[in-house]
Amino acid sequence: MKLDIFSLFPEAFDWFRSQRSVQNAIAEGNELRLFNYRDTTPLGAGQVDDAPYGGGAGMVLRVDVVDAALQAVYANGERPRVVLLSPTGRLLDDELADELTQEPHVALLCGRYEGFDERVHEHFADDEVSIGRYVLAGGELPAMVLADVVMRKLPGALGHERSAVEESFSQVLEGAPEYPHYTRPPVYRGWDVPDVLLSGDHERVRLWRAEQSRARAEQLEKGPE
Ligand SMILES: C[S@@+](CC[C@H](N)C(=O)[O-])C[C@H]1O[C@@H](n2cnc3c(N)ncnc32)[C@H](O)[C@@H]1O
Repeated sequence: MKLDIFSLFPEAFDWFRSQRSVQNAIAEGNELRLFNYRDTTPLGAGQVDDAPYGGGAGMVLRVDVVDAALQAVYANGERPRVVLLSPTGRLLDDELADELTQEPHVALLCGRYEGFDERVHEHFADDEVSIGRYVLAGGELPAMVLADVVMRKLPGALGHERSAVEESFSQVLEGAPEYPHYTRPPVYRGWDVPDVLLSGDHERVRLWRAEQSRARAEQLEKGPE
């Protein structure tokens, strides 16, 4: 998979790119590329935004700037699925992450300030994705969240292939939360690990985990007490 991220702050992704799962995915032949709208802006002095028509607070990312960035990067005719990060977009969940993982080429557009000129939404975005109903200062953190959830699903990204398959909200767990995990020591400050996990009986462990997962799904459904 090729994942392209357009941002005014590509250096914000330095840490993200250095993560083991991302490095593993890249070593498997996947690509993570970063582009700065400022590098290709057709305006002088690196300008990328402008005041909103009609007045009001804040600046708006210009449509010609985004167009120039996409044209420069995809001059060879490539056509990725373009995902614009927006607080009002489709809420990111495991199903959407699975869908995007199947795509050979995805481009993420990170906004800043008041967001994008509406014509970017209308003419360049195939999808709009939100990581939650709240407003962050920019699309960089949402893009990292999306890139993380997608890239860790790619074959070879995680050391243990099953870890990405059997996880909270995955199809394998029928969309339910994952069961609890324990590791050594078996008793800590009087807090025990459930006996079944120490029994060595794989079938009992499997049934216990399924039950725990179901109970957590019911709890989640009920909401906070
Ligand atoms: C300050 S926000 C703009 C908010 C916009 N004025 C509004 O009220 O909807 C700047 C950028 O951050 C990104 N962003 C902020 N919150 C987000 C969220 N919850 N999910 C996805 N992207 C978000 C988007 O790319 C957005 O264009």
